[in-house]
Amino acid sequence: MTEAGRRPLLQIIVASTRPGRVGEPIARWFAEYAREHGAFDVEIVDLADVDLPMFAEPEHPRFGRYTLDSTKAFSAIIARADAFAIVHPEYNHSYNAALKNALDHLNQEWAGKPVALIGYGGVAAGARAAEALWPVLVGLRMVPVAATVPIPFAAKNVSGEGDARVFAPAAETETGGKAALDGLTEWIGTLGLRGSR
Ligand SMILES: Cc1cc2nc3c(=O)[nH]c(=O)nc-3n(C[C@H](O)[C@H](O)[C@H](O)COP(=O)(O)O)c2cc1C
Repeated sequence: MTEAGRRPLLQIIVASTRPGRVGEPIARWFAEYAREHGAFDVEIVDLADVDLPMFAEPEHPRFGRYTLDSTKAFSAIIARADAFAIVHPEYNHSYNAALKNALDHLNQEWAGKPVALIGYGGVAAGARAAEALWPVLVGLRMVPVAATVPIPFAAKNVSGEGDARVFAPAAETETGGKAALDGLTEWIGTLGLRGSR
């Protein structure tokens, strides 16, 4: 709990935007897992719903002088978070373009906040994507937690249809998820984040 009696807000970002994406049921699983962990208020931020255009702001985002309503709305969402978990796929040995576009849109809103990476893919389990993402997060002055959660062949762990699809994590994925949540909690304490909503 924060001093104000509120839990820090953890936003779980769904990075993949394509129809049928595996990332959506994985994010729903992780949101529930994070709620059970007990240290956070949790909300999902789905980049498919945010639906940003390709970056088109005239000024560097560090000034916060946004011209587009879509950027202003995204800024208001991200500003209220204390920590993030990014659920991201691996595309062509890196992370996906919609995620980079979303990260590039803002600056101060990301800064000084811990972030955990829940990566997934085929044989590489999203590990190469996480490695590519790490320096970008550091460049934005975010604080990546050491525990990443690579999920190999994630689609094999998803069953059901449409909105009813369910991701069933392997035991190692749950263990990694707990380490990521513990890492976020530790950084929230170290950084003195107060639940700034
Ligand atoms: C454009 C594209 C590129 C991909 N490249 C890789 C890759 O380099 N390494 C890998 O392990 N999986 C790769 N995959 C497999 C994806 O990681 C896998 O299909 C995953 O489910 C995609 O996430 P999503 O369903 O949430 O969009 C690729 C998939 C797509 C669509």
